[in-house]
Amino acid sequence: MTKRILFTGGSGKAGRHAVPWLVNAGYEVHNIDLVPLESPGVTNLIADITDSGQVFNALSMHADFPDLEKGRGVQPYDAVVHFAAIPRILIKPDNETFRINTMGTYNVIEAAVKLGVRKIVIASSETTYGVCFAEGHRDFHQFPLDEDYDVDPMDSYGLSKVVNEKTARAFAERSGADIYALRIGNVIEPHEYENFPTYFANPEMRKRIAWSYIDARDLGQICHLCIEKDGLGFQVFNAANDTVSANTPTRKLAERFYPNVPFPREIGEYEGLLSNRKIREVLGFKEEHDWRNYVKG
Ligand SMILES: NC(=O)c1ccc[n+]([C@@H]2O[C@H](COP(=O)([O-])OP(=O)(O)OC[C@H]3O[C@@H](n4cnc5c(N)ncnc54)[C@H](O)[C@@H]3O)[C@@H](O)[C@H]2O)c1
Repeated sequence: MTKRILFTGGSGKAGRHAVPWLVNAGYEVHNIDLVPLESPGVTNLIADITDSGQVFNALSMHADFPDLEKGRGVQPYDAVVHFAAIPRILIKPDNETFRINTMGTYNVIEAAVKLGVRKIVIASSETTYGVCFAEGHRDFHQFPLDEDYDVDPMDSYGLSKVVNEKTARAFAERSGADIYALRIGNVIEPHEYENFPTYFANPEMRKRIAWSYIDARDLGQICHLCIEKDGLGFQVFNAANDTVSANTPTRKLAERFYPNVPFPREIGEYEGLLSNRKIREVLGFKEEHDWRNYVKG
């Protein structure tokens, strides 16, 4: 049976690449967002995730006209992938960013769990590591950034994502559902590789995100792997490509911009500082979109 996926925020920067990836993988994908996504094989429902009633409805109503013809009533979703959010600070007032992101995520997870969905994937963020939107220079505690790091952001967006991870954990504990939080690195769309030479010439531009990146299509693969990997309960996974988005070796970047940050373990020459070891080892992630495919080093 084809798996039915409800995807929130599919019309955004990451979703418009991850959703087609999931459609091509053979899933039936239904998008809920404030604006539609024009993409083959995807239905759209305009719904606001900050309204619990709308979210419960979205998860318990027909997605499209052909559902009526089948005459089998509303079919349950096999998984929810939740990306809808305010994606950084300085778009909305800080309290709105916090409210929309935390209540939106609470509403999506609560409705999904209470309606019997057993697999939920949510978008967390590398900003939970505390440096991206920090006041002034801040050191990371250590490199590379692994999932067991003591996350400590000081901004409303990063904090909202930490709270969302706790919300996910609470619902996973109570229900036994699998809820996987992806600490997504800086999302790169295919056309954005043209910016990489500028990043290479100015490595300080990407210092706050520890030179992380995740190709938006590789993020689709990660969502797919999460949907297929059952039984892990609550999990946090960094979602990043294998190497830094720089043509300078990792140790050299760290020595120049973070000379006081320790490395408790060895690191490969260009290995990413937002470590993707866990998604490679636990989920079997294999990146398909190394920046070197698109940019001359
Ligand atoms: N872009 C990045 O580099 C990055 C990095 C780390 C984490 N993330 C996270 O990944 C997810 C996707 O990010 P993105 O870059 O695609 O963001 P985006 O802003 O491009 O897309 C988010 C989508 O959510 C929708 N949305 C916002 N509020 C909503 C609401 N109340 N109800 C329904 N839909 C709503 C928007 O219309 C938009 O289509 C977000 O959760 C973001 O926090 C993004």
